[in-house]
Amino acid sequence: MTSEAKPVSEYEIYLGVPTLLSLQKEGGARAHRDELLFQVIHQVEELWMKLAINEINDAVGHLNADEVASALGLLRRVTEIERMMIGQLRLIEMMSPHSYIAVRKVLGQGSGQESPGFNAMLRVAPELGAAMHGVLKRACVSALEVHAEPTKHPLLFQLTECVIDYDELFQTFRFHHIMLVKRIIGAGTASLKGKPTELLERSMRAPFYPELWEVRETMFADFSRGENLYKK
Ligand code: HEM
Repeated sequence: MTSEAKPVSEYEIYLGVPTLLSLQKEGGARAHRDELLFQVIHQVEELWMKLAINEINDAVGHLNADEVASALGLLRRVTEIERMMIGQLRLIEMMSPHSYIAVRKVLGQGSGQESPGFNAMLRVAPELGAAMHGVLKRACVSALEVHAEPTKHPLLFQLTECVIDYDELFQTFRFHHIMLVKRIIGAGTASLKGKPTELLERSMRAPFYPELWEVRETMFADFSRGENLYKK
């Protein structure tokens, strides 16, 4: 060890802390003081998505083996991760347009559309849907039947709810991100790929599992509000 090298604890060695903390620009190299906030949030979001993908992949494996309870444990973690990711957007919303302009200049052609974590979350969504449908098919029951009698199929009911949670929270993340974009760069400002809000709103309208959302409509299709029960 040279005299300049900082001693590192086992905690730091195990977690790779020196490497982790070297991944953000040092003070003098930052385009703006808020560049640290910008880098940390994006890096943390990538880490959460890395963990989410790991859990989804294993959950899909469990579902393919009809181990629904084990899959549920992992899928619940994923939805907690999604909730945290949404909450963390609030922190970056605290960047002013003024500070973002300085940071945007050093981003080059970089775009959130290139996020490996986000693109992996998109990629695994149909695999999760297929695994869920496989479980339902082997149990000889449809999502609609599960919802018609949730107490008869408690585990399958929780599974379909967990899968729709993934979808709902993903869309919620996109909605909050659109509000963030509107707040920082404005709805009409052209970005790298055209008008960002138009582009982002288009992708937000497409759910992963329309069939699970349709179950609700089907169940309410024959529902009528009926007589006025309380007012004569
Ligand atoms: C200062 C804050 C932010 C601004 C101003 C911003 C702006 C934008 C814009 C304008 C786009 C449209 C594509 C483009 O022109 O590049 C976009 C896409 C995207 N951004 Fe952000 N973003 C911010 C923070 C974040 C954060 C914290 C994440 C976390 C992962 C993120 C993830 C994404 C993703 C995944 C896309 C692609 C979305 C899709 O295809 O539906 N962004 N962002």
